Amino acid sequence: MRNFIYSVFVLSLFTVLACQDSEKVKSHSDDEESCVNPTKDPNEVKPMALMMRTMANYCDSMRLDLKAGKMVDSIKYPLMPFWSAEPTDSSVLEKTYFDHAERFKVAYRNLMSNRENQKENYELVIQQCVQCHSSYCSGPLKRIRKLPLSYQN
Ligand code: HEC
Repeated sequence: MRNFIYSVFVLSLFTVLACQDSEKVKSHSDDEESCVNPTKDPNEVKPMALMMRTMANYCDSMRLDLKAGKMVDSIKYPLMPFWSAEPTDSSVLEKTYFDHAERFKVAYRNLMSNRENQKENYELVIQQCVQCHSSYCSGPLKRIRKLPLSYQN
């Protein structure tokens, strides 16, 4: 009987230790910055990341339109409500992030509604991408830095 109690005790001790270990591993992987190494698996791409990709493609295309002297509009390039989409890392959903998103929204609406200065207003939109990405997700900055009209390629 004594032996039995002893082995139950040892077994449960091992179980507790094993659980602690697996929790450690989990919280470690949560710490990794998904933005620095965007996931390549299409099944794992969260809605916010997908909207960001669409936005970046829109910007590539708007840049070419504006360089060719064409106007851009919100029918071809609608505002993506990425701030209400599920992110890869939910810890970004804090006040500063939403403040950045608000400034981005204002700049984007201004681009689409003020047709006089679209080139200048486009540059202001890209500055907002850079602003938020400097604080939240620096991985895509390399791509974003190629979006201003002044970028030579
Ligand atoms: C308010 C903050 C904010 C603004 C503004 C913003 N982004 Fe992002 N961006 C993020 C966050 C956070 C992620 C990570 C999303 C995720 O993984 O769910 C991201 C991810 C991305 C990605 C990587 C998507 C992928 O493949 O995983 C690209 C590219 C990107 N953004 C481009 C842009 C461009 C271009 C703009 C401006 C037109 C912009 N972003 C504006 C916060 C922002």
